[in-house]
Amino acid sequence: MKPRPFLLERYFAEHEFSAPYLLCCSDCESLSIKDLLQKEPEAHERFLSLRLGYTESLGSPELRQEIASLYRQSSPEHILVHAGAEEAIFNCMHATLEPGDTIIVHSPYYQSLGEVARSIGAEVIEWQADPGRSWTLDLDFLRDRLTSRMKMVVINVPHNPTGFLPGIEFITELSRLSDEHGFLIFSDEVYRGLEYDSAERLPALADINERAVSLGVMSKTYGLAGLRIGWIYTRNRSLFRELAAFKDYTTICNSAPSEFLATLALHHRDAIVARNMAIIRSNLVQLNAFFAAHTDLFQWHEPKAGPIAFPRYLGTSVAHFCRDLVEKAGVLLLPGTLYREDLDCFRIGFGRQNMADCLEKFEVFLHRSEK
Ligand SMILES: Cc1ncc(COP(=O)(O)O)c(C=O)c1O
Repeated sequence: MKPRPFLLERYFAEHEFSAPYLLCCSDCESLSIKDLLQKEPEAHERFLSLRLGYTESLGSPELRQEIASLYRQSSPEHILVHAGAEEAIFNCMHATLEPGDTIIVHSPYYQSLGEVARSIGAEVIEWQADPGRSWTLDLDFLRDRLTSRMKMVVINVPHNPTGFLPGIEFITELSRLSDEHGFLIFSDEVYRGLEYDSAERLPALADINERAVSLGVMSKTYGLAGLRIGWIYTRNRSLFRELAAFKDYTTICNSAPSEFLATLALHHRDAIVARNMAIIRSNLVQLNAFFAAHTDLFQWHEPKAGPIAFPRYLGTSVAHFCRDLVEKAGVLLLPGTLYREDLDCFRIGFGRQNMADCLEKFEVFLHRSEK
């Protein structure tokens, strides 16, 4: 079966390079190649003399070493580099699922996390986060649905679009259930590292569960989406082998310049993440003030991590509201209906340096609409 259109990505394809005020991006402010090369004295020369042949299919040893150092139990042999998180999701679903399998997906979800499985012929059960309880997930929902056909449970923490971050007890119990019932945990952790309180950072699922898969990427926390470098971390050897073999049919290997730059960026990750967190924190101050001034229109809940949140729109149609806003003011929000028809929320992004400009245009639009 063909996957259905990816609604969120189609929406971005329509607006991302034409709307002047992007207020729903999920990545942090980007860096230039020059910014990265300035981080080390020899980097510029090394980059220019890089040869552009095929690269090692699993990822360059230096890059895999840097990625492995993000985790507690990993070594480079547990890291498989992909073209973005998106390729890793596609390949992992194809390498593990068969028609007739069941998977449970944390909902609302970044569409590929459920749609690829559905296109393979798996039954997809949505594990709906509770908006009334800060978007928490109820483990009893999962316990009640565990059957022998349950192949995989997909979670996304910190969560797109709500910024939800569970406590350690949640993932510990999830891991225990996985051991007891045999399902695989696919943990999308592409926003890991952007917790507002670093004490709340969760261990990667693959660190606490030997069969689990943790997904990471350069796009979000590090603001380097254009590199198209993502990875799977797993200590599950048989799955690792299957994933490596599957990649021969998608990208074979990664872009050499991207691997070089990703290695450099990860080597200097503390400085990059500190800069991105400073942008997020300063933007959050403005967002809190903005939403405090518009409680008649929006219900705001500050998340715990990441550069996005999912406030509720209290008017009649969030889709119409967002369309009106981009057409009349050039400000792009993402209606929650692109995640799930029944959601009256919108995604707002605050990892970019121009957020104040976007918010100002948003404010002017609201002011005009009141008249
Ligand atoms: C939760 C989640 N997973 C995966 C991805 C895909 O990341 P990338 O575009 O870097 O491949 C995204 C991108 O928005 C995401 O939000």
